[in-house]
Amino acid sequence: MQPDAVGRYFDKIQCFCFEEEKLGPGQTAEMPVLFYVDPAILSDPDVGKISTITLSYTFFRSVRPEGASDLGRFEQAAAPSDHASAERGREVFAVRCGVCHDLEHNKSGPMLGNVIGRKAGKAPGYAYSIPLAAADVTWSPDNLDKWLQGPKGFIAGARMPVSVPDSRDRRDVIAYLESLQPGRPTTEAAVP
Ligand code: HEC
Repeated sequence: MQPDAVGRYFDKIQCFCFEEEKLGPGQTAEMPVLFYVDPAILSDPDVGKISTITLSYTFFRSVRPEGASDLGRFEQAAAPSDHASAERGREVFAVRCGVCHDLEHNKSGPMLGNVIGRKAGKAPGYAYSIPLAAADVTWSPDNLDKWLQGPKGFIAGARMPVSVPDSRDRRDVIAYLESLQPGRPTTEAAVP
């Protein structure tokens, strides 16, 4: 990380680098890093003026490639059925949403188990930002896709700090959320 002094204020919530994973020849994968910069940085006279932080990673040949875990997110399915899509979406949810969202409980983000068909800003007991609480939106696969592309672009002033740039990840995580809805055909993916 450059500059070094920023290290104290830079917190990784989740990183592909926390666990060794196997990436085979010719495979491609998104390698997410979720982080925040502690706002206390602004009151540090030495570090507060820095406006660019650079993170870089070096990949090494594994010393024991057989031992590394083979994560589901590296699997390339050509044209997944709804079921396969929801199944993969469960992994996407675990990796990209689970730090902040649970299905049944509010965490730093609102509970999402029954989000499709629910009005935005209406999970009981969750303290929403004012713009999201006031938004006249009922969550559907379509508008969830827009939200996940850029929450603040979809609802200005919303507080969700991440987006999902990969369209396949968005499709699969939405398929997963759909598979959880009551009245939908249950699949294995419905078991959290
Ligand atoms: C770093 C934390 C964080 C991550 C990661 C995150 N979210 Fe959120 N999410 C939030 C917060 C905070 C809100 C509430 C925003 C507000 O009040 O403006 C939110 C709100 C939402 C809402 C609106 C719910 C409602 O009740 O209106 C949906 C839908 C949502 N998130 C889906 C997702 C999905 C799907 C993922 C994973 C791809 C994800 N989020 C990842 C923090 C996060």
